[in-house]
Amino acid sequence: MHAITDRQSLISALDCRERQFTEELIAEGGRIKRENVGTKTYLRGLIEISNKCRKDCLYCGIRCSNVQVERYEMSEEEIISCALKAMALNYGSICIQSGERCDKAFTDRISSIIRKIKALTDGRTGITLSLGEQSRETLMEWFEAGAHRYLLRIEASNPMLYRRLHPENSLHSYDTRLKTLYDLKEIGYQVGSGVMIGLPYQTPADLADDLLFLKNFDIDMVGMGPYIPHPQTPLAALQYPADGRRLELSLKMVALLRMLMPKINIAATTALEVLDKKGREKALAAGANIVMPNISPASSKSRYSLYDKKTSLSEDINLEDAEIGFGEWGDSLHFLAKRADIE
Ligand code: 5AD
Repeated sequence: MHAITDRQSLISALDCRERQFTEELIAEGGRIKRENVGTKTYLRGLIEISNKCRKDCLYCGIRCSNVQVERYEMSEEEIISCALKAMALNYGSICIQSGERCDKAFTDRISSIIRKIKALTDGRTGITLSLGEQSRETLMEWFEAGAHRYLLRIEASNPMLYRRLHPENSLHSYDTRLKTLYDLKEIGYQVGSGVMIGLPYQTPADLADDLLFLKNFDIDMVGMGPYIPHPQTPLAALQYPADGRRLELSLKMVALLRMLMPKINIAATTALEVLDKKGREKALAAGANIVMPNISPASSKSRYSLYDKKTSLSEDINLEDAEIGFGEWGDSLHFLAKRADIE
């Protein structure tokens, strides 16, 4: 299969409903992965530390307007013990995720947790953060404390679509999100971003532009997955593509991004599993190389409900056939190559 890189070919590839083409595309994504980043799958133990959130994104189950979720916050001890559990399981890396909060008590606590985890594991734990938009100073502080990767999805790279998915106020600004991504890059983080796939109003051209956005930003890591409506959100009332179509689009997005950016890290996201029990394995076959097993305590897991059905998911993804990079950070080769160029 020849490389699909220009906008029109990306749109056609996403739009195409032929089964054979989809299968070939997915196989090609897997082949390009193995050739460029190898056959190993790297793990990030995901710790969902709190579902308190100051944002009100129209698709998200933990938006601040949803009064039906019970809010929680893990204690520092609980978080550290989770991190130690990930190290005992030889995961190599953890990802600390939370609803967005910017108060000083929160940002200080994160710094302290990062330092403690680093100290308790002799610096062996790779730490990824996924804590939303923060000031440049806060992001620098966390970087200096020892975090080295950060995930912040652009959600939808088309500013018009972004606006339809978020309340229209300064707290939900596309420009701030983009600026934060640039701050992260300048500080020296390995930067991850991504989008939701199969959203209301989203067209194949939007998705093609999402891929080109990630390419142009020169992202190091990507987490993108299907949109899963959450009944307690305004967006759930709107039309979106059927389950099968969202799954297919998600797998194609992974394969196409692997063609565009052969050496980045691509996560097989949990949302895929809602649509198909084998969703994450299928994403690994299409070009993904990262899995983030959820290691949060059961009580946190059930309340961190970004989307419907998340709570009923089994976390024991079948990785028997996968070759796991146990004990390794599994850094983005794309990032390492860029850095080697500079030095
Ligand atoms: N469906 C799928 N993904 C969602 N997220 C939030 N709500 C949903 C939903 N309803 C994703 C966002 C966010 C990540 C943490 O979870 O992309 O960045």
